[in-house]
Amino acid sequence: MRQIDFFDTTLRDGEQSAGINLNTAEKLKIARQLERFGATVIEAGFPASSPGDFEAVKQIADTVKDSTVTGLARAVQSDIDTCWEALKGGAEPHVHIFLATSPIHMEYKLKKTPDQVLETAVRAVKYAADRFPLVQWSAEDAFRSDPAFLVRILNEVIAAGATTVNIPDTVGYASPQEYGALFRFLKENVRGIDRVKLSAHCHNDLGMAVANSIAAIENGADQVEGTINGIGERAGNAALEEIAVALHIRKELYQLESGIRLEEIKRTSELVSRLTGVAIQPNKAVVGKNAFAHESGIHQDGMLKNPETYEIITPALIGASVEPLALGKHSGRAAFKDRAITMGFTLDDTQMNAAFREFKELADKKKEITEDDLFVLFTKQQLEETETPIYQLDNIQVQYGTNNVPTATVTAATPAGDTVHVATTGAGSVEAIFNTLELLVKGDVHILDYQVSSIGKGRDALGQAIVNLEFNGTKLTGRGIAQDVLEASAKAYLNAINRQLVRESYENRKKQAAAAVL
Ligand code: KIV
Ligand code: ZN
Repeated sequence: MRQIDFFDTTLRDGEQSAGINLNTAEKLKIARQLERFGATVIEAGFPASSPGDFEAVKQIADTVKDSTVTGLARAVQSDIDTCWEALKGGAEPHVHIFLATSPIHMEYKLKKTPDQVLETAVRAVKYAADRFPLVQWSAEDAFRSDPAFLVRILNEVIAAGATTVNIPDTVGYASPQEYGALFRFLKENVRGIDRVKLSAHCHNDLGMAVANSIAAIENGADQVEGTINGIGERAGNAALEEIAVALHIRKELYQLESGIRLEEIKRTSELVSRLTGVAIQPNKAVVGKNAFAHESGIHQDGMLKNPETYEIITPALIGASVEPLALGKHSGRAAFKDRAITMGFTLDDTQMNAAFREFKELADKKKEITEDDLFVLFTKQQLEETETPIYQLDNIQVQYGTNNVPTATVTAATPAGDTVHVATTGAGSVEAIFNTLELLVKGDVHILDYQVSSIGKGRDALGQAIVNLEFNGTKLTGRGIAQDVLEASAKAYLNAINRQLVRESYENRKKQAAAAVL
């Protein structure tokens, strides 16, 4: 059977969405999970875009071995050199070079003629092919490009050494029939197309990204690109888990294999949602929380008589079947450690001890510790290590009454090492907390978005808050988890501010190191 490769760009195109900012540890955690999920290629970031992106791509390339790791580069030598520095430690260094080919992009954005674009693309691909064993070239906005020009430029980049050529529908404008026809046309007209991998990359502006990707596969694409949960700029990218499940469920129709481990879908989807703070719409295909819920009486009746009446995908297929036994306050260290391993966490002894201590504290407050709670405990150990001094919440007290002015009082440790007490009021409890924290951080803070949800089920479920804010002109996202949603909100606010402190300190250290070398 023909094999379709899955190219995951959650950490590059997905991370480009408004309000998402992941730190290196979070990106590494997602990359490891994408490796378990079976992604053929993981696009870990855009190394030339910032020192933080460079570091994340490098760490991922040095760690992940079962998937190919790539980084994005503009068609310029300095970007390709930066990618090489980030990726050279990887198992099979792969670079992804892009350059726009549509008339509107060439004229207004690049201010280049088609001949100049062709020459730039060929030069960049030749330069990259001298270093990298794998070179992917993308014709940005390919779908709105002149097909004859696409053939010309693809002929040349393949001759120059590209090993994959990608045909993106950058603005999500194509219909499945049109996108499929473009692939068929390129298959029939581009010299050497059978020697390289042909890739599809679809955006979801008209809600057709998954359908378009499948149309490309039906017409000769060897690889599909997309993100987990379909996250990405504007309306997002093609959701890889939906493509993988469609190819599996309709195997008799498509006759294709993917190397995707479908049973890792649920875990991957939840990890990406939690770390990015982008909630999954309840009715989303495959991973939405209602994807397997049957509400109406007629459907429930049918399901009881024969599940196949209404269920074409089972929860077990995507790894969402039975929740493993909940742990409780009598569970021992061995069971706890064992669960961490089955959930895909590798914690060292110190992290394991700290997680176990927190587990015992939580077990005193909650009767059952679910997989969701454990996920929070384990990820916390892996993601929260930092040497940078940050704000730490010691205590929060909120007074609210229907006829009183809501007041928040906070005690926190500051990056300077002092412990301070601040208090002020607000129109509601959350506003009082945010106003108080603004006094603490002494900056200009604007709240852009704020969401609260529960993690898992039941009245004693942990609460999660996500805050998108602007701090001294920089947009940041923070997450906070606690048993109380007000405490979670305060933690999310400080988490956003702390991310900026960690990033600034990292960038300063890099600058100092570079200055010392000079
Ligand atoms: O959508 C797009 O065109 C891209 C390219 C950089 C491949 O993301
Ligand atoms: Zn894209």
